[in-house]
Amino acid sequence: MKGSAFLLPGLVLLLSMACTREAEAPVPLNSAPFQLSLPPGAPALTVPPDNPLTEASVHLGKLLFFDERLSMGRGISCASCHLSGNAFSDTVALSQGVGAGTGSRNAPSLANVAYHPLLMRDGGNPTLEQQVLVPLLDSLEMDADINAISTTLSGLEPYRSLSQAAYGRPFGIYVLTRALASYERTLVSGHSRFDHFRYSGDTTALSDQERRGWAVFSGDRGRCTACHGGFDLSDHQFHNIGTQPDHHGDPGRQRITLDPADRGKFKTPTLRNIALTAPYMHDGSMTSLEQVIDHFNSGGNQDSNKDRLMAPLQLTPGEKRDLIAFLLSLTDERTLDQVE
Ligand code: HEC
Ligand code: HEC
Repeated sequence: MKGSAFLLPGLVLLLSMACTREAEAPVPLNSAPFQLSLPPGAPALTVPPDNPLTEASVHLGKLLFFDERLSMGRGISCASCHLSGNAFSDTVALSQGVGAGTGSRNAPSLANVAYHPLLMRDGGNPTLEQQVLVPLLDSLEMDADINAISTTLSGLEPYRSLSQAAYGRPFGIYVLTRALASYERTLVSGHSRFDHFRYSGDTTALSDQERRGWAVFSGDRGRCTACHGGFDLSDHQFHNIGTQPDHHGDPGRQRITLDPADRGKFKTPTLRNIALTAPYMHDGSMTSLEQVIDHFNSGGNQDSNKDRLMAPLQLTPGEKRDLIAFLLSLTDERTLDQVE
């Protein structure tokens, strides 16, 4: 985490140099467009013009996502912390990387990550392409030498052919970052029972209790949609919800903006697949949905920077149970992975 903050300016430069070269010599994209299936209600996906989704790019990205050679043979791939069976999140509060230590934040779900205007819990990263380099270079995560990885993988099939098919060039950092980003963009979530109810007009898709929970969630009793609104059940903004008095020393959004008004603010997570993504919050400090609901019901811990929406709710025990039943209806009924 700390290391990545210092590395970023250099990386931005590196990537923008790569883009300049790209502009001079257009890459022939000789691969068919990837047919991404978007669920009813899902907004159109914005894909950067220099990295269209193609069959070759997303297949390449998927292979890379699960390849432990990205940690130089030390047994860690992206999928070690973003588990596909858990909506691409981790099941522990703090993930184990290549070393003995851990970082200080919980690995979030990558479901619908394509819709995030800013990445990371503090919004410190603007694009999926750039974000790839953070875990790769972080000494606590994959601690990799990307030049060595590039050299090793560029000589191997199917990486060699897929790089040419997708980007018309040999495998390297340019291809690695773009292909991983392409695969991540395809992880669209929107096939839960709640979606059938909300976007396909199937009023029977939710039980009476789940519908009551949705009413609490979206109405005046819970006011959850003030922050967890829209298709992704997140405004993708940053809020201080008073999780811990000092957030374990994590300044949150302030780490990036340096603005004291941003102290303790973290990105609103999606609530999709919440049944699969425990533990919760930026530090994984809450283990159950009961604990989370009690937190919101109490209005959160004292914090001078806390969001004004965080006031006690006085939910009844029945309303709390209904809310949890609703949250459990947000689990996708099919795998998020659309890549064969
Ligand atoms: C050692 C565990 C670990 C590994 C390995 C790992 N990640 Fe992560 N990932 C995390 C953690 C922890 C965060 C949250 C960091 C933060 O917000 O500061 C994160 C955040 C992200 C995010 C931002 C999500 C959001 O909601 O903003 C993306 C995208 C991501 N990782 C992709 C990847 C990719 C691609 C790889 C492989 C190149 C990878 N991760 C490898 C632990 C890991
Ligand atoms: C002021 C904005 C705001 C409101 C209102 C709000 N939330 Fe949140 N919620 C957040 C933020 C921000 C986080 C992440 C905090 C962190 O990472 O420490 C969060 C986290 C969560 C989580 C954990 C998600 C995860 O993956 O870690 C759940 C569950 C949740 N909220 C449910 C609710 C419910 C239910 C309500 C209504 C009772 C609600 N929220 C109201 C902003 C809000």
